[in-house]
Amino acid sequence: MTAAPLLAVEGLHMMFGGLVANRDISFAVETGEIIGLIGPNGAGKTTLFNCLAGFYTPTAGAIRFNGVSVGGQSPEQAARRGIARTFQIVRIFPEMTVLENVMVGAMLRTKKVSAARAAAENELVFIGLEHRGDVKAAQLTVSEQKRLEVARALATRPQLILLDEIMAGLTPTEVREASQMVQRIRTRDIACIIVEHVMEGIMPISDRIIVLDAGVKIAEDAPAAIAQNPAVITAYLGD
Ligand SMILES: Nc1ncnc2c1ncn2[C@@H]1O[C@H](COP(=O)(O)OP(=O)(O)OP(=O)(O)O)[C@@H](O)[C@H]1O
Ligand SMILES: [Mg+2]
Repeated sequence: MTAAPLLAVEGLHMMFGGLVANRDISFAVETGEIIGLIGPNGAGKTTLFNCLAGFYTPTAGAIRFNGVSVGGQSPEQAARRGIARTFQIVRIFPEMTVLENVMVGAMLRTKKVSAARAAAENELVFIGLEHRGDVKAAQLTVSEQKRLEVARALATRPQLILLDEIMAGLTPTEVREASQMVQRIRTRDIACIIVEHVMEGIMPISDRIIVLDAGVKIAEDAPAAIAQNPAVITAYLGD
């Protein structure tokens, strides 16, 4: 018997009234994989993240994590099981310090403030924001705030992290740094699914790319094959 994949999504549907935001989506992710999730605006990428992370209850279909059915879990249950996320529009606590924001994530695993502080300090070093720990989060640039969300997610000690457009608006140098950060996350045996429009940020580092268009998975393949896929090209460029 082979072990269950870390994440298995089977026939997932998510409807908002009559709008089908995710239609019959299936895929699997193994520990330590980097998966790029791409598709035009409104394709259903963030909706899929919201289903995986417990923010939405799927209309139909199954989500299994470590072989356990987790569809319809709460965000806190998802985090406890090891699914962490960032938000396309950042949701930091602006009046708290950078370090305190990350401690909020760490408190999921410990009740001791000193232990949470130590864990949060480690994550700030990991993402390169240790020199900003004492400033209010509101004072960070947007790209720093996105990194802060990555640190807060990592502080929950996930097995799977969902990154929603952390490279948007970054300079080419910052995009390279963000790609390197994702590769360092992989070395911690954490799987990453990255939603991104910045192709140069994800194509070189993804093991596989999954493409959504109008709620449907239209392709799943290695990055080089995706770039040549006629259905993918049509989805982006139109007929
Ligand atoms: N809470 C909601 N209520 C109603 N409709 C929603 C809701 N969330 C998303 N949608 C709709 O579902 C579809 C998919 O949206 P989603 O945000 O998942 O797209 P996306 O692929 O993340 O797009 P983008 O690249 O622009 O972020 C869109 O038509 C959107 O308007
Ligand atoms: Mg989105």
